[in-house]
Amino acid sequence: MKGTINLIKKLTSIVGPSGYEDEIREVIKKEVKKLKIKHIEETPLGALIVKVGSGKKKIMLAGHMDEIGILSTHIDKKGFIRFANIGGVSKYGLIGSRIKFVNGVSGLISTEPIKKPEQFSFEKLYIDIGAKNKTAAAKLVPVGTFGVFDKECVVLGNRIISKAMDDRIGCVVMLNVLKKVYNKKLPYQVYFVFTTQEEVGLRGAKTSAFKIDPDFGIALDVTGTGDTPEGYKMAVNLGDGVAIKVKDRSLITHPKLKDVCVKLAEEKNIKYQLEILEWGGTDAGAIHLTRAGIPSTVFSIPTRYIHSQSEMIDMDDVKATEALLEKIITTKDLGNLKF
Ligand code: CO
Ligand code: ZN
Repeated sequence: MKGTINLIKKLTSIVGPSGYEDEIREVIKKEVKKLKIKHIEETPLGALIVKVGSGKKKIMLAGHMDEIGILSTHIDKKGFIRFANIGGVSKYGLIGSRIKFVNGVSGLISTEPIKKPEQFSFEKLYIDIGAKNKTAAAKLVPVGTFGVFDKECVVLGNRIISKAMDDRIGCVVMLNVLKKVYNKKLPYQVYFVFTTQEEVGLRGAKTSAFKIDPDFGIALDVTGTGDTPEGYKMAVNLGDGVAIKVKDRSLITHPKLKDVCVKLAEEKNIKYQLEILEWGGTDAGAIHLTRAGIPSTVFSIPTRYIHSQSEMIDMDDVKATEALLEKIITTKDLGNLKF
């Protein structure tokens, strides 16, 4: 538990917007190298592929390393920086937030005066990095510099808040399970893929899936909850266990695959819930459309305030997700399915 929390702190602290996953990949690679696994490779788009196990069928697991962020687009005479979003950044909650750019420069987001709430838009916002003028600003943050929220990870008892929990928590789940199974005899070739550019369109997963050509895909990612005041009518609650994906915008889990996941969870008394997410998608959406089609699903970690600076998870859900992932890749049920 303590080791997991330290790993969450370590991975969430890294600056890694889509397209800039080098640093997070190096940290994950270091963790993997401790295990002396032979098969480690990287794709041209930066995904890290770690393969363990043997057997005829291949399972591709995917957790994305990238996080949402911003990108500098324009600097005015006085040195104020305009920016665009990388992934689903909501304009609400941006005012006053701190930004860290990939080159280490910090700044804060503020807004032009807004007289009526309906005038509030992304275009009104700017980043102040404390530069005196355009030349000084452009030296520190040239146009085209990527950045992310600058917000630390805080442990609130059994729950944890941080920026980039989406999807560093999926990476943590995969690393923890990898550590448990890497020296066991597995009935499948299991590809642990730490993907890139999920937040801008599942790009690292799409290309990795083409390369691997798996028989099954499982993404490890966050999902929303319906348990906050006047929240979405969604039957997923923080702390109620791993969420087995039924459907989102990018994927319908094949009913046979869903049934096996439910059966395995029940056999092992793993706390689970069925998830229908009416917005968003995950890497599984890209994986399942590969070649002739790959039966795929998602084991989701319920998360409040997704895509904000403080995304909240519950450690019980993390444990349940790890347990179900370990179960499905170490038992033969999945491989016995006929499609
Ligand atoms: Co996301
Ligand atoms: Zn995600």
